[in-house]
Amino acid sequence: MTSPHPPLREFYRHPGEREHFVRDLFDGTAPWYDWAIAFLSFGSGNWYRRQVLTRAGLKRGDRVLDIATGTGVVARAAAHIIGEGHSVIGLDPSIGMLIAGREKAQFPNVQARSERLPFRDQTFDFVTIGFALRHFADLEAVFNECARVLRPNGKIVILEITAPQSRIARGLLGAYMGGFVPVAAALVTRRARVGRMLRYYWATTRDCVRPNVILGALRGAGFREPRRNVDIGIFSEYSAGR
Ligand SMILES: C[S@@+](CC[C@H](N)C(=O)[O-])C[C@H]1O[C@@H](n2cnc3c(N)ncnc32)[C@H](O)[C@@H]1O
Repeated sequence: MTSPHPPLREFYRHPGEREHFVRDLFDGTAPWYDWAIAFLSFGSGNWYRRQVLTRAGLKRGDRVLDIATGTGVVARAAAHIIGEGHSVIGLDPSIGMLIAGREKAQFPNVQARSERLPFRDQTFDFVTIGFALRHFADLEAVFNECARVLRPNGKIVILEITAPQSRIARGLLGAYMGGFVPVAAALVTRRARVGRMLRYYWATTRDCVRPNVILGALRGAGFREPRRNVDIGIFSEYSAGR
């Protein structure tokens, strides 16, 4: 079993409370999620997601499963590339996030966890995971499931923020993502819970396993040639073939 990060006792007391905490966190902040991430990333989020999927080779006609879809930001980027009559399914355990996403696009959505995907073997050409790997219980379980539902020659693409290793860069990013952004977002939305969601966003990023562990878990699930591309030092894009 590979947990993406150790228990974060500043947010919940017992490791067994993590899953419930995460679901509550996203259910309770779903209406502000898209605004919050646009604020965090200076509005570049949608553009960036589209770039990554295009680079990974997503094309018209592909069947896509976007796991941990949330409000569907990656799913919408995928649909934009695939075009009319697109085939994108979003999956997420948070009903609040799925409902908030329905106002923006009507994809078939499934309320489920990534550790157990309710799909037949070899159903999809692409599996995407956007900024959510940190919330899974076990990377191996999720990657095994992704490999199972992908067709031969299918592809997995994972977007994630990686905290820099240099103490200075890490401190600066922490001051921005874990300090300024949560305080400003809570003030603007007048919702303390939006600030807490963003503080958790940073805490999980800060304590996330390093990229070599993620690449190793992909390899362990049988993925071919797992690789990582990095933009401006922190935006990691993992991809691998089935
Ligand atoms: C930061 S949001 C990412 C949303 C979207 N993919 C994006 O790119 O903005 C993280 C999402 O992961 C979901 N999540 C948490 N645990 C999960 C699990 N075990 N399986 C699938 N999704 C999960 C949360 O409900 C939340 O919607």
